[in-house]
Amino acid sequence: MKKLFLLLTAALVGLASYSSQVSGSTADKTPVSFAKHIAPIFQNRCEECHRAGAVAPMSLATYEEVRPWARAIKEKVVSRAMPPFHATGAIGRYDHDPRLTDDEIATITKWVDGGSVRGNPKDLPAPKVWKSGWASGEPDLVLTVRKAYTLKKSATDQYVFFVFDHVFAEDTWIRSIVTKPGNAKAVHHANTHLVPPMLKSPEEGYFEGDFDPGARGTIMISGWVPGSNDVFLPQETGVRIPKGMRFGIQIHYGPNEKETVDQTSLGLYFANGVIKKNLRMLFGDRKDLQIPPGDANYSLISKRTFDSDAVIRFFHVHMHLRGKSYAFRFTYPDGRVETLFDVPKYDFNWQRSYVLAEPIRVPKGTAVEFIGTYDNSAKNKFNPDPTQTIRWGEKTTDEMMQGRIFYESESENLNLKVKKGRVVSATETASNSQ
Ligand code: HEC
Repeated sequence: MKKLFLLLTAALVGLASYSSQVSGSTADKTPVSFAKHIAPIFQNRCEECHRAGAVAPMSLATYEEVRPWARAIKEKVVSRAMPPFHATGAIGRYDHDPRLTDDEIATITKWVDGGSVRGNPKDLPAPKVWKSGWASGEPDLVLTVRKAYTLKKSATDQYVFFVFDHVFAEDTWIRSIVTKPGNAKAVHHANTHLVPPMLKSPEEGYFEGDFDPGARGTIMISGWVPGSNDVFLPQETGVRIPKGMRFGIQIHYGPNEKETVDQTSLGLYFANGVIKKNLRMLFGDRKDLQIPPGDANYSLISKRTFDSDAVIRFFHVHMHLRGKSYAFRFTYPDGRVETLFDVPKYDFNWQRSYVLAEPIRVPKGTAVEFIGTYDNSAKNKFNPDPTQTIRWGEKTTDEMMQGRIFYESESENLNLKVKKGRVVSATETASNSQ
C-alpha cells in the first residue's frame, strides 16, 4: 500500500514538473523563429507585394531576403506603415483586410528583438505559388491598353491616363471590374474611370503627366492598389455602363531604375439574371479650395444627404499631395452623429477602394459631411512647395477633395432580366419607388 502511494506521488510530481516545463518553454523561452512563426505571416501579409517582380522594392520570401531588413520590418509593422492601409476601424471591418493583428505584430517584434533566428528549415511552410492569370476566372470582356507603354527611367513618379478603345454599343450591366497590371513592378496604383464620348483621346491613346480625368467629365468607379482583391457586387446589383461610354484607367507608376514597359488590362464581368439595383454613389466634392502657404491644417466640408434607405458597400477618397486626412461624418435622422469612415493619415500613394466586409445600412435622410483636411506646410514630406497658395486643379501639385460612398437604394427594384450584361426584358411590375 505504502509503495503504491509513493509511486503515485512520484508520478504526480514528475507530471507536474513536466507540464511546467512545457508551458514555460512555449510561452517565453523558445525563440520565435523565421521558419516556424514568421514565414507564414509574411506569406499571407507581405509577399503579395514583396516578392520577385511585384511592386515593393525587395522580396520577403526567404530568410536570406528578409534577414537584412529585420530592423526596418519591426519599425514598419509596429508603426503600422506596413502593410499599407489607411482607414481606421476594427480589423476585419474591410473585405480582404490586410492589417496585422496585435498578436502578429508582437510575434514579429519578439523575433527581431530575439536576434531574428532562422529556426529549423523543416518548419518552413511550402513556398507560396502566385498565379498570374485572372484569379476570378476568365472575364467576359478584357480591355487592354492600345499599345505597350514605355516608361522612361525616372527617379520620380509618372502618371498616365489611358483610354481604352472599346465603345459600349449598348447599355451594359457589369458586376465586377478587375485590374491586371501588365508590369506589377511598375504599377503603383490605378483608378478606373468611365469616359464619356465627348472626351477625345489623343492618337496614341493616352494622356501623360498632370491630367486629372475627373476634371474632364469622367466618372471614377474604382480604385486599385497592389493587394486589392477582386470585388463582385451582390447577385442582383450591377453597374450600368451607358451606351457610348468607354473605359479609362489612370495609372500611377512609381520611380523606375531603368526603362521598362507596361500594358495593363481591365477584366469586366457582366451581370446575368435579374438586376434589381444599380450601384449608386454619394459624391462629396469642393472646388473652391484655397489653401494658404504653410497652413498645416486646412479643412473643407461638403454636405450630402441620402435620399433613400441605403446599403453602403464601399468608400473611396481622392486628394493630391497636400491631402492630410479625410473623414465621413454621418448625422442620422434621430440626431445621432458618427464618423463612419476615417482616413486619419491620407497617403496619395495608396488610394484604394475600402470595401466593407459587411454592408452598413443607413436610413433615408442621413446627412453626410465629407471632411477633407490638408497640410500645406513644410512638415508634409510630400509637399513640393509650401510657399504656394493651392487651388483646385488637375495637377498633383494642385488639389482635389473627392469623397465617394458607393451604395444601393434599399427600395430600388428595377427587375431587369439581363443576359451577358444586356437587358433582355423588363417586367411590367418593374418599379423604382425613388
Ligand atoms: C500592398 C503592397 C504591400 C504589402 C502588402 C506590404 N508592403 Fe512593404 N512596401 C510596399 C512598397 C510599395 C514599399 C516601398 C515604399 C512605399 O512605396 O511605401 C514597401 C516598403 C516596405 C519597407 C521599407 C523598405 C525601405 O526601403 O525602407 C519595409 C520594411 C516593408 N515594406 C515591410 C513590409 C512587411 C513586413 C509587410 C508584411 C507584414 C509588408 N511590407 C507588406 C508594399 C507593400
